[in-house]
Order: sequence, then structure tokens, then C-alpha cells
Amino acid sequence: MNTEAVINGTELHRKLDVLHNPGYSPELCDQYAAMIGEILQLKAERAAVVLAHNYQRPEIFEVADFIGDSFELARKARDLQGADVIVFCGVHFMAETAKVFNPERMVLLPDMRAGCSLADSVTAEALAERSEELRRLYPDLKVVSYVNCTADVKALSDACCTSANATKVINRLDSDNILFVPDQNLANYVQSQTSKNVISWDGNCYVHHQITPAEVERAKAGIPGLVVIAHPECRKDVIAMADAVLSTSAMMQYARESSADKFLIVTECGLSDRLLMEIPQKHFYKACKLCRYMKMITLPGVRDALVNLRYEITMPDEVRDGARRALERMIQLGS
Ligand code: 13P
Ligand code: SF4
Repeated sequence: MNTEAVINGTELHRKLDVLHNPGYSPELCDQYAAMIGEILQLKAERAAVVLAHNYQRPEIFEVADFIGDSFELARKARDLQGADVIVFCGVHFMAETAKVFNPERMVLLPDMRAGCSLADSVTAEALAERSEELRRLYPDLKVVSYVNCTADVKALSDACCTSANATKVINRLDSDNILFVPDQNLANYVQSQTSKNVISWDGNCYVHHQITPAEVERAKAGIPGLVVIAHPECRKDVIAMADAVLSTSAMMQYARESSADKFLIVTECGLSDRLLMEIPQKHFYKACKLCRYMKMITLPGVRDALVNLRYEITMPDEVRDGARRALERMIQLGS
């Protein structure tokens, strides 16, 4: 557990300087530094770990024990040892996944409004109805759910996947016909990578879906040698312009290992902040898109979650067991 990394306001201000964000004033950095100290203390008292998604605010990274993409966070939650409480800094479906793997631990989400437009686009009832309909046409049909969905949708799926392993999971399933929920853009991308029949749901991530080819074109025209890295939740016409299509953590690795030094990061802006802080010698240009749900998690929210042990994630046992089966299948097929 990260309990010793207490930082003072001046150090924090220097660290955040690479973001060129005037919002991080010396006064705010002093307040955050004090709060970071308080949170590290509370974590020790509560035997708590903080898991954070790559899109979180930079100040949240200072209190995180582990930062990663959805797949890494799911695996981390599954293999966690020695903690009583998990504070999840991400969105609701991610905290649910942590709870699925940790029924005996308390899993807290600092703000219950931290949802996801993809997760909202499919319900268990609609999925049950559609898969029954399709099974009459394709008796071998398997349902693969992108982890950006609720636990009761996962419980109705044969396997889950994330952006890091969607093609692998689908290729390894013993069926030629796949109903893929809920992201139409990821479904299109996977269809371009597999010979199987991928039947798509019609959901999308409002953050990625708003990014247009014209925006990418403008950036490329202004910056010679720019390498474009896109998330597979982007539209097909945006993906067609990318040099690489990757999950958020794979983007980090690609940028680190590439010989190029200028990248357009076509995903939520939190990832660009992490890249700027961790690879300051390279240049990152961002799409300037924020996920309002991810940004609902704040440092005061994390502190209050630990003080009041709120807001706790719960679910019925049968939902948890069904979701766990589909998530374990993902880890087995997609690792
Ligand atoms: P990753 O699994 O690539 O981190 O993506 C999660 C997400 O919500 C993207 O919008
Ligand atoms: Fe959901 Fe999109 Fe936000 Fe990711 S970025 S949590 S997919 S709304």
C-alpha cells in the first residue's frame, strides 16, 4: 500500500507543471498536498487500497496503489491480497468488477454518479430478449460483453472482454457467431480483425464517438511527423486514420517504446496527462475530450469515502456469480 509518498505543495506544483494547466495554482497544490497526506494516513488506518483508472485526475494518481486500464484493474482486483477496503477511482462498472472478485472486502466508489454512457446503453432484459431472438438464426451464438456494462449484463454473457483483448477473446471462443454488447465502434473494429460474424449492439461511448476525422486531420496537418494513437471506442473513420489502435495502458507502452516523439492521443484527456507526467521528454497532443463520469471522482471525494466508508458497492449473489464466470473466462481467454 502506498503510504509513504507524502508530497508537499511545492513538489506537487512542480510535478503538475508539465501539464501547463493554470488551474493547478500553488494554493490549490498546497491544499491537495495536505489532503494527500490525510488520505495516505486514512488508507493505513482502514487497511485500504486505491485502484485508479488511467483517465483519473493527476492528483488522484498521487494516492493510488495501482493505476491501469480496465483489464489490468480487473486482474489486480482479482489477485489482491492484504486489504480490507478497496477505494475504486474510476466508474461504477469497474468498481462492480472489483466487488465481483472481492465479495468479502468492502468496495467503495467515491461518487455513485460516476456511470458510463456505454454501460447505460444495454440492460439485462434487452440483452436476454435479443440473444434469444438471434439464437433462432444462429444456434451457436455466444454473447461477449465489453466490460463497460453492468454486472447483470455480464452475468448473461459467455465471456467479457476489454479493449486490450476483445479480438483475442472472440477468436478463442468456440462459436462463429458473436453478439457483441454494448459498443458498436469496438464491435466494428473487432469485425475488421476477425473472420467471425460479429453482431453489434448500438451503444457508444459519448466521449470517443464525438471525435471526428476532421479534428485528427487538422492536428496532422499542423504537426509534421505526428503519430496517431486511437482507442478502439472511436468511430470507424477515425480509426482508419490511426497508426495504432490500443487500450489506454497499451497506448502508454507504445508511446514509451516508440522511436517517435510526437503523438496525438485520441482518447479521453486524462491519459494524455498521465503520459505528460511519466514521459516528459516526448510531446503529446490531446483530443481535449473529458469523461464527465471519470471526472466525478475527486480528491475530497476519496478522502470522504475513507472517512465515512461510502459509497459501498453491493449486488445479489447470483449476479456476482454469473459476472464472475464471464470475467474469469475473459482472463482465461484474453490474457
Ligand atoms: P481501457 O480499458 O482501454 O482503459 O478503456 C476503458 C474506457 O472506459 C475507455 O473509455
Ligand atoms: Fe464510459 Fe466513455 Fe467514460 Fe469510458 S470514457 S467511462 S466508455 S463514458
